[in-house]
Amino acid sequence: MRIDIITVLPELLESPFNHSMLQRAKDRGLLEINLVNLRQYGLGKHKQIDDYQYGGGAGLVMMCEPIVNCIEQLKSERSYDEIIYMTPDGERLNQKTVNSLSIQKNLLVLCGHYKGIDERIRELLITKEISIGDYVLSGGELAAAVLVDAVGRLLPGVLNDETSALYDSFQDNLLSPPVYTRPEDFRGSVVPEILLSGHEKKIQEWRFEKAVERTQQRRPDLL
Ligand code: ADE
Repeated sequence: MRIDIITVLPELLESPFNHSMLQRAKDRGLLEINLVNLRQYGLGKHKQIDDYQYGGGAGLVMMCEPIVNCIEQLKSERSYDEIIYMTPDGERLNQKTVNSLSIQKNLLVLCGHYKGIDERIRELLITKEISIGDYVLSGGELAAAVLVDAVGRLLPGVLNDETSALYDSFQDNLLSPPVYTRPEDFRGSVVPEILLSGHEKKIQEWRFEKAVERTQQRRPDLL
């Protein structure tokens, strides 16, 4: 998979993709991440990318021309399965959307800033708008990092134990069951016996039960 990210702050996105799973995905040739500096497409001597909003009001709006030129240039080089705009008024990101994006080939992600982007860009070019939650970040970069991380780890060959994504919270709309590691007894608090039994079927049943129980308690809306 290739993910192109259009941003005015490429530096902010350099580190999140250089560790752990995403680094592994890149090393294995499963994921290519390409940061595109929108400033290159800015207008005039000052490489302007934003301007005052029509109708007045505080806050600058990202202009059509730099973003449209940038996206058109990228589209002339390859076709994209989705052109995604990160925005708090987009569709709330969930595991279902992450799963469906993880089977795509080319994604283009646009990070907004200030008051957002000119509405006409959304009408003309954006195919999907994603929010990572009901709060406002200072820009779309951290939201894009969340999206890319969630998608990247699902690419076949990234996780070492291929089955482990199956037990993630939210797969099957269930939260994950509790997990334990050594020691068996930590300050008198002991690991549930069933997990030490070696009885694989019973362990699976126990995990499923606990996942349902936890979901009922914490996120009944998922059930
Ligand atoms: N940009 C600013 N806030 C955001 C959010 N909550 N989700 C996605 N993009 C954003």
